[in-house]
Amino acid sequence: MERAIGVIDSGVGGLTVVHELMRQLPKEKLIYLGDTARCPYGPRSKAEVQKFTWEMVEFLLEKDIKMLVVACNTATAFTLKDLQDRLPIPVIGVIQPGARAAIKFTKNNHVGVIGTEGTIRSGAYTNALKHIKSQIHVNALACPLFVPMIEQGILYGDQADKIVEDTLEPMKVKNHMDTLILGCTHYPLIKNTIQAVIGNQVTVISSSEETARETSTILEVHQLVNKSDQIPVHQFFTTGDMDMFIKISESIFQHPTSHMVTIKKAAIG
Ligand code: DGL
Repeated sequence: MERAIGVIDSGVGGLTVVHELMRQLPKEKLIYLGDTARCPYGPRSKAEVQKFTWEMVEFLLEKDIKMLVVACNTATAFTLKDLQDRLPIPVIGVIQPGARAAIKFTKNNHVGVIGTEGTIRSGAYTNALKHIKSQIHVNALACPLFVPMIEQGILYGDQADKIVEDTLEPMKVKNHMDTLILGCTHYPLIKNTIQAVIGNQVTVISSSEETARETSTILEVHQLVNKSDQIPVHQFFTTGDMDMFIKISESIFQHPTSHMVTIKKAAIG
């Protein structure tokens, strides 16, 4: 039987990466775990995020995954290195791909980054960006209200508009950025609102496309590409509320997910 790529996130956000993985790698089977019951990870300590991330990884290792995509910036910021050092399978996160994508887009070297408190506090984006191009100016802002709002299924409307407008206000003051990184995999779900608030002169990017490209390269290099012609049936697991998970999945994939995935409840930790 063909082995799957494992994908983890604190909740539904990583599904935005799954969406792109399905588009770029239609033959690859995916097993997704969203730790919705303990979301958000953003305000938690590094030690707690590491513990929860390892619990998700152990759940997926039991399913014999061939590669791991950490589709959560917060978990990437705090745990990627440890996972890469200790796991016997290839592991990638979303921060390097996001930084790379931003460097490709920026023309004036002024890049904004929005993410969870944990991701912004870690400085992981600033380090990744400056590592690629030292003259980059980075303006980073934590947006702690976005993930809880999205996990409640509030993706549009007056409440979403107000929260996004108020939160992004500091980014609009004296800011020369031409590129804004959505440094949290939940944020593509409210991308249109973010774009409207920040203005069309700024290119808003998420790391999903670049992450899927990197996944493809790694599968090739490690000779892990799925050779079977069967259309894969993906498996999604959530530790939290099934109904909300299904509702948000359907809004991401734009049609009932039942044709292409099985969705189950998972117990971890
Ligand atoms: N999708 C996660 C990220 O990319 C959300 C983190 C959270 O649970 O706060 O950082």
